[in-house]
Amino acid sequence: MTSLNIPENVRNTELIDWVTKAVEMCRPDSVYWCDGSDAEYDRLCEEMVASGTFIRLNPEKRPNSFLARSHPSDVARVEDRTYICSISKGDAGPTNNWMAPKEMKTILTSKFSGAMRGRTMYVIPFCMGPIGSPISQFGVQITDSPYVVVNMKIMTRMGNSALDALGDKDFVHCLHSVGMPLAEGQADVSWPCSPDPKDKYIVHFPEERAIVSYGSGYGGNALLGKKCLALRIASTIGRDEGWLAEHMLIVGVESPDGKKDYVCAAFPSACGKTNFAMLIPPKAFHDEGWKVTTVGDDIAWIKPDETGRLRAINPENGFFGVAPGTNYKTNPNAMDSILANTIFTNVALTDDNDVWWEGMDGDAPAHAVDWQGNDWTPDAGRVAAHANARFTAPITQCPVVDEHFNSPEGVPVSAFIFGGRRNSVVPLVLQSFNWAFGVYMAATMGSEMTAAAFGNIGEVRRDPFAMLPFAGYHMGDYFSHWLDFGRSIPEPPRIFSVNWFRKNEEGKFAWPGYGDNMRILKWVVERARGTSKGVETPLGWQPCYEHIDWRGLEFTKEQFEQVMDLDRDIWLKEIAMHDDLFFKLYDRLPKEMTFIRELLVSNLWRQHDLGLATPRPEGLEETTKAVAK
Ligand code: GTP
Ligand code: SPV
Ligand code: MN
Repeated sequence: MTSLNIPENVRNTELIDWVTKAVEMCRPDSVYWCDGSDAEYDRLCEEMVASGTFIRLNPEKRPNSFLARSHPSDVARVEDRTYICSISKGDAGPTNNWMAPKEMKTILTSKFSGAMRGRTMYVIPFCMGPIGSPISQFGVQITDSPYVVVNMKIMTRMGNSALDALGDKDFVHCLHSVGMPLAEGQADVSWPCSPDPKDKYIVHFPEERAIVSYGSGYGGNALLGKKCLALRIASTIGRDEGWLAEHMLIVGVESPDGKKDYVCAAFPSACGKTNFAMLIPPKAFHDEGWKVTTVGDDIAWIKPDETGRLRAINPENGFFGVAPGTNYKTNPNAMDSILANTIFTNVALTDDNDVWWEGMDGDAPAHAVDWQGNDWTPDAGRVAAHANARFTAPITQCPVVDEHFNSPEGVPVSAFIFGGRRNSVVPLVLQSFNWAFGVYMAATMGSEMTAAAFGNIGEVRRDPFAMLPFAGYHMGDYFSHWLDFGRSIPEPPRIFSVNWFRKNEEGKFAWPGYGDNMRILKWVVERARGTSKGVETPLGWQPCYEHIDWRGLEFTKEQFEQVMDLDRDIWLKEIAMHDDLFFKLYDRLPKEMTFIRELLVSNLWRQHDLGLATPRPEGLEETTKAVAK
């Protein structure tokens, strides 16, 4: 049998047992235990350059950076092949694919038998969250993909530091194979995977806290610390232990007086978390001393401390960000984060060996090689970079990384924001009346589909808490967990909804977005502090035009009304559509959801009966302190 090559510092007996069994099943040519060193990273990258998986980018323009091109069948998460295999089908709920664990294990055992023939098995011990944090969790990933190893090195705390901290403790078992064993003498391809879309399995066993992934080498399908562990498995651990694992960025906001707040915001995939997490305040704000810092751009783990105050950590250590649309106007901090030491996947290669994607600054190159390796010119009639092309970069390279991003105790949370991509209906900003109304608002969030998710692009789908593809258990129980969680802490953070994506009659975005989102973030933070004003509307609290800081932006009251409008008839229809989701979750839907729905409908009618012309009548102005908890 293949030698296990167990290094001296590996003493966790469960780990040794598990790797032994995996080797027997997968039949790799060799086993390699990752130490997480820079030398190891460099060596693996070099090997991938030699094998054709990586192209080294121009060292002068993009030092120590690489391009990988995936197989065209392997470009995003595969939600239809993602399973929550809880013992009971009811626990997975109607929004997840489910199969009985025994049945699934039979399939997976046959898939993994000999799956790593001709390949090296890598063993990657990793820690999600700062090492030593009471909120962090350990995992070990077994994989036959060196691409995964180097991405995990950027995205997690990986190797000996994680192994030492793990000691004898439990860890989440993460087994991964690209699903393409090599026969004797068979040449490898640059992006091995199982090309048949039905022959991929992203499987979670929540009771065992185990993950098995077969057939894909891309992103959340393959970097198992990310969506699989940090969201699907962690959300079930959080349910059992009383904390939250969320698809949220974490951003620090410091006002000129030196006061600092942290805000967690949930937007669905490719809806602006990375942008919002590193936003650059408009000049007038910046000059006055407002500062925005990044703790995380995708995932937040949130736990109450001894006093009941919420503390958040970013379980990740890097960014796996959407490349197209990223430029020095939309996200300068992201651009600066990827100047070096970055892995690019599915972007275009320029003639001077640098990268390019749609929406990058300046003109398109006259010639490039597209993400599929073909010659490309601007008149090619197709994109050069895949819409879900991504960069993997260390968080420490972010110019505005927060000083506490690595603090084991996490950062205090002042507010939650939920936002979807809606071209109409949902206003720019709304503050929920209280925690339960906020849970309703988040639960009924909708968003138009993007290239990062599975479905028809542009169609609205309900994406509760931006967690539809990531909740590891029944969505109705998830709502209950949020309601209980709010009741269990003395002063729950305020909850807001935002929508940067409303369009005008010409079909253009009616809100400038990006850095100008600071104007809304400022209002949110000041509401949380109890210092900014708002008015009551049927659906929650909203700012009037005068309550927003407009310095440096021409944005008229009429334009503001356009993005803030709450039309009664449209909203009655929208609320009626919430029932589609509620009926689906009926067996476990908390009754509060139905009551709040009724209250919102009656609020909308009451406003009508009072004959109030505008949903934001002057004179009902209050600060947040007056809002009952
Ligand atoms: P995942 O990594 O998939 O979870 O996504 P993310 O939420 O981090 O997505 P990201 O920040 O990369 O969002 C990318 C898309 O959102 C791009 O198409 C951006 O142009 C768009 N976007 C981000 N912020 C804004 C904004 O304020 N206004 C508008 N109109 N578009 C925005
Ligand atoms: C998302 O789809 O929300 C992502 C990218 O953050 S992936 O890691 O591929 O899931
Ligand atoms: Mn994401």
